[in-house]
Amino acid sequence: MSAVREHFGSRLGFILAAAGSAVGIGNLVAFPVAATKSGGGAFLLMYALFVFFICLPVMMAELAMGRRADKDPVGAYRQLSGGSRGWSIPGWMALATPFMIAVFYLVVTVWVLGYLIETLRGNLDLLATEAHFGQFINSPVVFLYLVVLMVAINGILAMGVKDGIERAAKTLMPMLFVMLLGLVLFVLTRENAMLGVKYYLIPDFGKIDSAVVSKAMAQAFFSLSLGMGIMITYGSYMKKRDSIPGSSRAVAITDTLVAFTAGLLILPSIFHFDPQIDPSELSDSSAGMIFLFLPKIFLSLQDSVGYFGASAFAAAFFFLVLVAAITSLVSIIEVPIATLRDERGMSRRKAIYTIAAVQFVLAIGCAVSFGMVNFFTQFVQLAGADKSFFDLVEIIFYDTILPLNGLLVCLFVIYKWKKANFDQELQEGDSTFTGSVSQKYINFSLGTFIPLLLLLIFINTVALKFF
Ligand code: PFF
Repeated sequence: MSAVREHFGSRLGFILAAAGSAVGIGNLVAFPVAATKSGGGAFLLMYALFVFFICLPVMMAELAMGRRADKDPVGAYRQLSGGSRGWSIPGWMALATPFMIAVFYLVVTVWVLGYLIETLRGNLDLLATEAHFGQFINSPVVFLYLVVLMVAINGILAMGVKDGIERAAKTLMPMLFVMLLGLVLFVLTRENAMLGVKYYLIPDFGKIDSAVVSKAMAQAFFSLSLGMGIMITYGSYMKKRDSIPGSSRAVAITDTLVAFTAGLLILPSIFHFDPQIDPSELSDSSAGMIFLFLPKIFLSLQDSVGYFGASAFAAAFFFLVLVAAITSLVSIIEVPIATLRDERGMSRRKAIYTIAAVQFVLAIGCAVSFGMVNFFTQFVQLAGADKSFFDLVEIIFYDTILPLNGLLVCLFVIYKWKKANFDQELQEGDSTFTGSVSQKYINFSLGTFIPLLLLLIFINTVALKFF
């Protein structure tokens, strides 16, 4: 066991690291598309309500659990439940979930890296052709990029919490904000850009139905990196003198602002490309948007800024997505590392090697499930599922287990660990919290309607995806 637990060096460092986790591919692509297809401003409003009234309390609960226990998710559940065997199950789930989501996310990030490199090599025109994506993901160079990406991420992780995770976030996040703003300003000056802004912002309450509500909620939950053990782990690296409510608010605001701003980049670009486009036809999948649709849009910018300008814009966009994905991956891979260190007493280095080896094999399994070697896909098909390995990982972990983990966090904190202990942890570093409206709201909501809502989402997904 490590003698002294590592900590983030400063409050800002923690906020940027947690925001680095939260700001990911989900913010930059999935969010703007979902918002435009599902009621524009109406979706934005509903999403903001979910973030601040539902997700924020869950984030505080996860951070408080981690900080009080000073442990990884498995250790946190065990310790705060007084060693209960039953409650160690959600601890293990909060380990398996990030582990598998990381594999899935690694593969998509490898493709982003590949698209960035191709753009820099002057091949944007190639990326914009229909057949390219299929060829690219089935080419062996993907393995090389996987190695490069894993070395970069594990290199950051090897330097530890303060000198690795925090320092990377302090460099990369401000860079991400500036680049995002730069791209938005550029794109807003393009022809028909305002049409896109209109589609994105004008509310259409008629589009809000139960499916949209459930989508907004799931998106908010995923976007804030909840249900993945990440915030429990990051909480364990927080200093006692830092306020959990204050820092969580800052993370949620940053995450939501980035998602909102990304819409001002994506929608104007799409409408500049085709002012007649029907946004309801846009792909729901981030991968579909990033790799099949957006390259065409970027290429079309050559009419006004030339091929070089269009390529520079595309490269900046892929770089932005890559940075967002790397800071998210760092946070999610830190979860199993913390578990191996806390539960098995491994050194950071040994934990990194162990996890990287397993994830490398699984990521290859995920990547090849697109056809190059159909082994994994056939394997799951033999087991009776009409899905690729990649699809299965997404459906089981991302869609289904995430809300379940969130539900368990709420129930655990309020009914097992107990409100009084939770309150005490939230008050550390925040004396104004005691007796405040937010304290009362958080205690009430976490014990009542938030778990209920998460349960409904869980049931809804199980019903939709498995039957
Ligand atoms: N908040 C992240 C996103 O919106 O993309 C969620 C996430 C996914 C975090 C994958 C970490 C990760 F590895």
